[in-house]
Amino acid sequence: MTDLAGKEVLLGVTGGIAAYKACEIVRDLRKEGANVHVVLTASGARFITPLTLQTLSKNPVHTDLFDLLSESDIGHIALAQKAHLLMIAPATANILGKIRNGIADDLLSTIVMATTAPVLLAPAMNTQMYASPAVVENVEVLRGRGFTFVDPDEGELACGTVGPGRLADTPKIVEMARILLAEKILKGRKVVVSAGPTAEDIDPVRFLTNRSSGKMGFAMAVAARRFGADVTLVAGPSPLADPSFLRTIRVRSAREMMGEVLAAAEGADAVIMAAAVADFRPEHAAGQKIRKERFDRAVKLVPTDDILATLGRSKGSRVLVGFAAETNDLEGNALEKMRRKNLDAIVANDVSRPEIGFASDSNEVRVYFSDGTAIDLAMAAKDAIASAVWRAVRRKFLPE
Ligand code: CTP
Repeated sequence: MTDLAGKEVLLGVTGGIAAYKACEIVRDLRKEGANVHVVLTASGARFITPLTLQTLSKNPVHTDLFDLLSESDIGHIALAQKAHLLMIAPATANILGKIRNGIADDLLSTIVMATTAPVLLAPAMNTQMYASPAVVENVEVLRGRGFTFVDPDEGELACGTVGPGRLADTPKIVEMARILLAEKILKGRKVVVSAGPTAEDIDPVRFLTNRSSGKMGFAMAVAARRFGADVTLVAGPSPLADPSFLRTIRVRSAREMMGEVLAAAEGADAVIMAAAVADFRPEHAAGQKIRKERFDRAVKLVPTDDILATLGRSKGSRVLVGFAAETNDLEGNALEKMRRKNLDAIVANDVSRPEIGFASDSNEVRVYFSDGTAIDLAMAAKDAIASAVWRAVRRKFLPE
């Protein structure tokens, strides 16, 4: 189950060259179980055909206000009322101007006025148009009225100019749809999530690290954001890109991670340490490359500071959750870590199984709680596991 499953999404497509990207958006929304109705403006229909969008959405495409008005239940009102979310992608300068000024002269602009669902606007236009005072002001006013924007990306535009104006990538637009549709079970909560490996420098060319990909920690941060939390993700050198719409602080070493996690943890309701923090680091990082003849004598390893244990020593009301990646005696090791670090919960997984290991997209975990209970989360995508962990943590420790 994703946040989009079973949801009614109305997708408005206006007339810009990026209209073809609506196909991708429809496909991705449907893949996650949303029922998509497309409303195509007259100028949108000059860039992409209703037939294409109808085939992809598996629903009739709505193009004309008066066709719908002749239906028994006033069509545009029915569409507006049924929607859980209205998205307009691409949104032209023209539609932004119409919405701002209360003009309802076609089906899409009428629906915008008639809906009580959240409205997501993904503008796309020429860079100069996007920077024009009218558009800048319209965007500002609409933000103030509660419309959600997915800002355009920078890049080379179809007209040849380079700058902001290109429709945001589909995954970003779809992620905002998930954020708008997810239950807000962590609204008002501040959470910190660490993710990825750390890298401990030996000299300018060598470092110690581990096989963590960061996928599970990133999924924990993304899930918390969808649930409405104010999230800080502190990420080690994972190859994953910073997630959209999330404050991400990049660090390299365990020491840097400690500094950022402790700072972000001030006033936080929960800290989830999903990072695979290095347990040892070289006592000194050499300024110059160490010759191999003297490598074993030159490198002395010392333990890193334990971030979770440090937080556990002055716990207060903050919820602390650790991760235990084990290859043997999962339960014994996980419970020992939870006790030793004074945690509320620990998420244990068996990294010796490749299908749920470090780089895998799936996971299967058991979550142990400090009250002696445990839950099993059967094999699922890491983002589904992350949502389930948050639901459990919030049920136990963060009641409304
Ligand atoms: N952790 C931490 N600071 C460290 C090391 C680990 O905060 N310096 C956190 C990890 O983010 C994770 C949990 O502690 O949430 C893992 O516990 P740890 O005892 O380090 O387990 P392993 O790294 O798996 O090591 P080992 O089993 O060898 O003890």
